[in-house]
Amino acid sequence: MKVKGTHYRSLWWNHDDDVLEIIDQRSLPYEFVIRQVKTMKEFEDSIVEMRVRGAPLIGATAAYGMALAMKLDPSDRNMDAAWDCLNATRPTAINLRWALNRCRAALRTLAPADRAIAALTMAHDIADEDVEINRQIGEHGLTLIREIAAKKPAGEPVRLLTHCNAGWIATVDWGTATSPMYHAHDAGIPLHVWVDETRPRNQGALTSWELGSHGVPHTYITDNAGGHLMQHGQVDMVIVGTDRTTRRGDVCNKIGTYLKALAAHDNGVPFYVALPSPTIDWTVDDGVAEIPIEDRSPRETTHIQGTFEDGTLGVVQVTPEGTPGGNPAFDVTPNRLVTGLITERGICKATPEALASMFPDLSKPEA
Ligand code: MRU
Repeated sequence: MKVKGTHYRSLWWNHDDDVLEIIDQRSLPYEFVIRQVKTMKEFEDSIVEMRVRGAPLIGATAAYGMALAMKLDPSDRNMDAAWDCLNATRPTAINLRWALNRCRAALRTLAPADRAIAALTMAHDIADEDVEINRQIGEHGLTLIREIAAKKPAGEPVRLLTHCNAGWIATVDWGTATSPMYHAHDAGIPLHVWVDETRPRNQGALTSWELGSHGVPHTYITDNAGGHLMQHGQVDMVIVGTDRTTRRGDVCNKIGTYLKALAAHDNGVPFYVALPSPTIDWTVDDGVAEIPIEDRSPRETTHIQGTFEDGTLGVVQVTPEGTPGGNPAFDVTPNRLVTGLITERGICKATPEALASMFPDLSKPEA
């Protein structure tokens, strides 16, 4: 997508320097900073510190990390070490393991001398495929938005609500939940997006930055406002992303998503999840019982980053000194609360049968 008129992906290969470049999301939305990721430690830190974040993007980043590992030492031992180190960076989003498994399975069939080039090609493929998957999600999601728009008086906006940032910077391009929004906006459908703040890391500020850059009307709201807006008929549809969706359609996404799903259910608001197929964990059924939930630093809850009135970037403490903070980073929305899954192949119900019939080539028979 575009930043001040220039098209960017959230990561790309710098062919002159032979190195990965990323948009540093720790600096957004305040400053637009591009960083080179040159060492395995920098790959690890970029994912852990959320310089890159969002399920599809950390998968693509890990693939480039594997490519660097193969350039440094293409042995089986180093491949396994890189897999372990990159896979341990964040526990919840399945795209990380998906990308690493895909790379390792293919690389194991090759002689060590051939692995560096093949690994880099595979990382490029994963990045390109992500862009195409998200574009297709956008086209399918657009049909839902069109249907809502058709029932409204001409010119009245379709009011969407989203949580976290499932936007283009959380993927390689387009985003998942935002892709239908960009497609609808570009098709001339009037839209308004309620953007949840998403404490503690305020990914809603990233979504606002994205939507604002693309000219999509939106309002940044506190995390607790969504239920109230739904009760008052101010939300036509919720669209969120996912970090891991189980084979029966339970959806693990940023903490607070479950509460939005409950409010949507209670108010008859359709709750859709934009789901790229690499985010499906076919080995897991019951998301609440089986998905590991990342427990992040309490400091993210007791302190908050932002700019002061003079424009300088800083961190302030919002709690009394010594207050203990708790920071589960994701929650699981059971499939019964999900109206539908917007995948790259089309829209389906959040049920084991519907997912398996949408992806017969990917789903595995139950053990
Ligand atoms: O902790 P984050 O910011 O990496 O969490 C991101 C989310 O929860 C997104 O909604 C999800 O990864 C989908 S991104 C297209």
